[in-house]
Amino acid sequence: MHKKLFIPGPVEVSPEILQAMATPMIGHRMPEYAKLHESVVSGLRKVMFTEGYILLATSSAFGVMEGAIRNLVGKRCANFCNGAFSDKWHTITLSCGKEADPFRVDWGKPITPELVDSALSTGKYDAITLIHNETSTGVMSPLSEIAEVLRKYPHVVSIIDTVSSMSALKIPIDEMGIDCCIFGVQKAFAVPPGLTVFSASEKAMERAGIIEGRGYYFDFLEFEKVAKKNNTPSTPAIPQIYALQAQLERILAEGLEMRWRRHSDLQDIVHDWITWEGFELYPSREFCSRTLTCVRNNRNIDLATLKERMGQRGYAINDGYGRIKGTTFRIPHMGDLQIGELQDFLLAMTEEIKSLQ
Ligand SMILES: Cc1ncc(COP(=O)(O)O)c(C=O)c1O
Repeated sequence: MHKKLFIPGPVEVSPEILQAMATPMIGHRMPEYAKLHESVVSGLRKVMFTEGYILLATSSAFGVMEGAIRNLVGKRCANFCNGAFSDKWHTITLSCGKEADPFRVDWGKPITPELVDSALSTGKYDAITLIHNETSTGVMSPLSEIAEVLRKYPHVVSIIDTVSSMSALKIPIDEMGIDCCIFGVQKAFAVPPGLTVFSASEKAMERAGIIEGRGYYFDFLEFEKVAKKNNTPSTPAIPQIYALQAQLERILAEGLEMRWRRHSDLQDIVHDWITWEGFELYPSREFCSRTLTCVRNNRNIDLATLKERMGQRGYAINDGYGRIKGTTFRIPHMGDLQIGELQDFLLAMTEEIKSLQ
């Protein structure tokens, strides 16, 4: 039996998108591929709100997150850390041989514009990494306010992970002045994993141009060179790109405003359920993620048994991540999820939780 995915990615993929992956294969140096690539990039432009480079990498998100460090950090990087993925990005930065400092806040808290300002005002940094939506803790940091602060530091290249937020709410890359924005397609885009999309501003490309040791697979300049021909430096995951093309058509047919509203409605329904059930939010309400909710297990539910029982009912659920596994659990509400499906899921959760206590 297929278990319906209620984990924070990969998420459920609609049958028609899976079907698009079965399109007969083409070669990436054939004109048919350039057409496919062009149509995907033009769809992405509408979702990402950028006229800059939009590049497709065959990799999970961490590949490009590491690549961005190799390409864009010159002098020293400020890594803003508020959860498992942002902590890991700091470790990755150091493992690439770059100078870097972590700016940590407690898990469950957002990165604030004030923290970014005080770090950058030291003048020590020429790049930052920041995760917009920390999937491990369900925290969304205030990106537009942070982007305002970044305007004061034009020599700093901003590398922003929107892995689990892009398409669920408006993230206008150019208006915010983000230099490199990275996301995988397996979260709010609801496409099978294996493909990562990233943007690069002229400033980012200029920075890459003066940095050595960029490697080959994620060399931004290689991507730039072939992007002009609607292509990728090496063989891309063509089935995923077909799926992304089909999904972009669906996203634009739903309408971006409607998609953002649906995500917001899904979030409200989950928050109401949490209150009704007597659970607490892990982050403060103001900084709760639009795409997943991290719930404090204040009722001491046996999450391992809940996971097993929900599995028997045909749902795959999550019982927390990293050091908050077991004391929290996360309910995703992103991608193509519809309100009725979420309500069915929450009803099943209520029944199983009741039977456990
Ligand atoms: C915010 C965030 N960044 C990075 C990653 C890593 O993505 P991937 O597993 O595609 O490398 C994840 C994965 O869940 C994530 O949620």
